[in-house]
Amino acid sequence: MPTTRLPAVRADAMPAQPPAVHHPPLQIAPEAFLIQQLHGEGMAPVAVNVNSLVIRGAEPVIVDTGAPNNREQWLTDVFSIVDPLDVRWIFLSHDDVDHYGNLEQVLEACPNAVFVTSFFIGERMGVLLDNPLPRFRWINDGDVLDVGDRLLVAARPPVYDNPTTRGLFDASTGVYWASDAFATPVPSFVENVDELDPGFWAEGFAQFQGMLSPWLSIVDNERWYAQDVAKLVDDPDLRIITGAHTPPITGAKVGEALELMSRMPAMGPVRLPEQADLDGMLAAMNAKVA
Ligand SMILES: [Fe+2]
Ligand SMILES: [Fe+2]
Repeated sequence: MPTTRLPAVRADAMPAQPPAVHHPPLQIAPEAFLIQQLHGEGMAPVAVNVNSLVIRGAEPVIVDTGAPNNREQWLTDVFSIVDPLDVRWIFLSHDDVDHYGNLEQVLEACPNAVFVTSFFIGERMGVLLDNPLPRFRWINDGDVLDVGDRLLVAARPPVYDNPTTRGLFDASTGVYWASDAFATPVPSFVENVDELDPGFWAEGFAQFQGMLSPWLSIVDNERWYAQDVAKLVDDPDLRIITGAHTPPITGAKVGEALELMSRMPAMGPVRLPEQADLDGMLAAMNAKVA
């Protein structure tokens, strides 16, 4: 069994407390289960999903490994769906801590699984991760992974906050794992974006994509970005968009999400919270305590 040497995650790197409320895995398609976590619920004006996915096909796949601050519940949820010894593939969409947060534990618990990633993730995590080369599978944008009863396509989403990012598309179910893309805050837990107020969704969606991809305002929209979005629009098999930071997007909302995504380069830079906002938050928290 390989050994791993990921560093202990600093308590202040992510909210140290696990989410206040447990939301059990949600089946979104045949043999596709969303591992749900909602960070900030009940503690902040808006909350953010930190999801991952399990595809329980002939050769089960874990797609991203969640954040470290809810490790025990995350492992319980994942292994309530699939036996760790049956897991054959661990797909990491990119090397951000809310996606690799339990990678070390999964690699150790699932000795029969191959770590599906890319050359560059391997390089970027090389100093942290002692995983034997034969246990890697490098996959690039457009490459296909045969997992026995279905073919999974590595498909980079139109927006991303990390150069290693790959989404994962399962044409057999129509489920696209978009990694960070299509992210939105939520006012409270919802199982589907169709439960969100459309105006709230559009505003939160724009804010989130702008934060993820500050380069959107300098892309050549017609030549590059529009083509990237069109790949999804034109895919007749795309039925469900899901990802780490959004409730599932289904039905008519798929088209609406793609329409929102197509507009992003024209939105201009987003305004990020400033020190005055932090001061206000701290004052409000102190007033609550006093
Ligand atoms: Fe990310
Ligand atoms: Fe993320």
